[in-house]
Amino acid sequence: MISTTAQEATITTAQETTSQQPDSQPAGPAGKVVLVTGASSGIGEAIARRLADEGCHVVLAARRSERIAAIADEIRSRGRSAQGRQLDVTDRVDVQAAVDAVADEHGRLDVLVNNAGVMPLSRLDALLTEQWDRMIDVNVRGLLHGIAAALPHFQAQGSGHFVTIASIGAHQVSPTAAVYCATKYAAWAITEGLRLESGPGVRVTTVTPGVVESELASTITDPGAQEAMRTYRAEAIHADAIARAVSFALAQPADVDVNELVVRPVRQR
Ligand SMILES: NC(=O)c1ccc[n+]([C@@H]2O[C@H](COP(=O)([O-])OP(=O)(O)OC[C@H]3O[C@@H](n4cnc5c(N)ncnc54)[C@H](OP(=O)(O)O)[C@@H]3O)[C@@H](O)[C@H]2O)c1
Repeated sequence: MISTTAQEATITTAQETTSQQPDSQPAGPAGKVVLVTGASSGIGEAIARRLADEGCHVVLAARRSERIAAIADEIRSRGRSAQGRQLDVTDRVDVQAAVDAVADEHGRLDVLVNNAGVMPLSRLDALLTEQWDRMIDVNVRGLLHGIAAALPHFQAQGSGHFVTIASIGAHQVSPTAAVYCATKYAAWAITEGLRLESGPGVRVTTVTPGVVESELASTITDPGAQEAMRTYRAEAIHADAIARAVSFALAQPADVDVNELVVRPVRQR
C-alpha cells in the first residue's frame, strides 16, 4: 500500500491543477482515495481494478466479503493499493461508518462511486412486489445513503467527486423494466440535483451504461424477463468500457466537471 504521506502529496498536486493553466495536463486520477460500492463483480470490480492500476487507493465495498477480499488481494499482489470492506448500501448506518472509516484512515475521501445496483426485471402484473422494494432500496436508497455519508466530508474538504452509475434505463423505459427504470430515472434526478446544489469544488458525474457484461441479470426470476434478457445481453460490452469513462471524468482538471457520459455497445440502438 502507498503511504498516507505520499498519497496526500500526490492528491494535493492533482487538485491544484486546473484548466486555467494553459500548459497544464489533466490532473489524472493517481493518488485519489476512492470508495466503490458494488465492487464484488461487474462494473464496480472493473472500476476498482482500473483506478487502482492508475494509481488510486481503492476501497472495494459490497456484501460478498470473500469476493471483495480476493479482488483486493489480487490488486495488491500487483503492487497496487486496495482494501476491501463488507457493506450493505441499504443500511444507512453501515454506509456512514464505511465512508467515515475511509476518511479517518486516509485523511480524506476524494471519490465516491455509487455503483451498487440490482435488476430483478418482471412485468408489473407479475406483482413481484418484494423485488420492486429491493430495487428501490438498493438503487435509490443506497445511492442516497452514499450521498448523505460523503457530502459532509466533501463540503469540509472543499472538494470531492460523486460518480453515479445510472443506466440507459434512466432515459428510456421498456417492458419488464418499469421499476428498474424508475430507480434509474431517480438516480439520474438525484445526481443532477446534487450537481446543482453542490458548492464549488464538488464534482458530480453520472455514467450511463448500455448493456455491459456482468452478473446483473442473475437476480431475474421471472421467466419472460429472463428470456428477453438473453437476447438483449448478447451484444454486451466489457465492463472496463465503463471503468474507462469513470477514469476519464476523474482525470480532468479540478475546474472541469464531466456531468454525464453515455456508454453503450455500438450495435445497441
Ligand atoms: N450491466 C449492465 O448492462 C448495466 C447497464 C446499465 C447500468 N448498470 C448498472 O451498473 C451497476 C453495477 O451493476 P453490474 O452490471 O456490474 O452488475 P453486477 O455484476 O450484478 O454487480 C452489482 C454489484 O452491486 C452489489 N450490490 C447489490 N446489492 C448490494 C447491497 N445491498 N449493498 C452493497 N452492494 C450491493 C453486488 O455485490 P454483492 O452482491 O456482493 O453485495 C455487485 O457487486 C448497477 O447500478 C447497474 O444498475 C449495469
